[in-house]
Amino acid sequence: MNIAILLFMFLGIFGGTSQGIDKEELRKGYEIYKNTCSVCHIESVSLMDFARARMHVLKGEKPDMDAPPMNLVAAKIRQYYPRELEFVEFVKDYITHPSSKKGVCNKAAYSFFGTMPPIGEGMSNREKELVAKWMYYNFEGTWLEIFLKVKQLEKTTHSKK
Ligand code: HEC
Repeated sequence: MNIAILLFMFLGIFGGTSQGIDKEELRKGYEIYKNTCSVCHIESVSLMDFARARMHVLKGEKPDMDAPPMNLVAAKIRQYYPRELEFVEFVKDYITHPSSKKGVCNKAAYSFFGTMPPIGEGMSNREKELVAKWMYYNFEGTWLEIFLKVKQLEKTTHSKK
């Protein structure tokens, strides 16, 4: 990618609805996550904990949490909506009008946790955007990438036994 475009993106030069994020936006997004989302969503799980939770899920047991961890949610969304704008739009819409029909989470998530409440109804457009951008920029990797790593981990821990 062209250096100038990269700079533009990272300086967040287009203001509010721009692509890219600066430190201040990232901090605000994280604050919103902490205040509004973290009661249900833990911030992230390690590959090891993900592998453990997966074992429970495969046996049909509910993992020990109230909602999928944010790093996995972000990876899942990125799988379907890799570009920032579509990712942010998806999150903004989903948290305001959640429904298993448009969700990208595994079906198991809905049966274990139920559909998430429309928490975005009480949030401003800007708050939704900031928390969505934080999700996009704070985590990396797609679901497939993380999933393949977990499969690899499961293989190596198995063969050590
Ligand atoms: C009361 C608990 C609760 C709170 C608070 C909550 N969530 Fe959720 N969230 C859930 C559950 C449960 C799921 C899994 C089921 C689903 O996708 O609806 C979920 C799923 C999601 C998904 C995945 C949607 C999909 O495709 O399936 C996103 C994105 C999300 N949450 C974002 C947020 C954000 C951002 C916040 C804070 C602004 C937040 N959530 C606050 C419970 C919660």
